[in-house]
Amino acid sequence: MRLPLALLCLVCTFCCCGAQVSQSPEALMTREGDRSTMTCTYSNTYRPFQWYRQVPSGEITHLLTVAANRNVTEGRVRGEWLESGQKSRLHIAGTRLDDSGRYFCAVEAQ
Ligand SMILES: *[C@@H]1O[C@H](CO)[C@@H](O)[C@H](O)[C@H]1NC(C)=O
Repeated sequence: MRLPLALLCLVCTFCCCGAQVSQSPEALMTREGDRSTMTCTYSNTYRPFQWYRQVPSGEITHLLTVAANRNVTEGRVRGEWLESGQKSRLHIAGTRLDDSGRYFCAVEAQ
């Protein structure tokens, strides 16, 4: 039986090193137990992507690093390196209520 919804917000769009980083979707509602997917797009290539989560209390935790030509899985969270590094996708398997929060993607400055 599926109960509440988890809310995953993606609101962060910012610039790094003169390049644009953007995320989609801006907000995502997922049924508990379903897979959540969000995408980060970068206007340049060959930089590692960092994924972070900010919980409602404000604390920010680093989820994973998606390095060049690697897909990485940490528990229920999977990060993919796509399109020669112009895109990274984050999947959360079996979304739980406590996955709710804001998800940020960042590209490392050199
Ligand atoms: C990463 O996962 C995507 C989607 O499943 C796949 O297309 C791609 O080939 C994978 N890349 C690597 C380096 O395994």
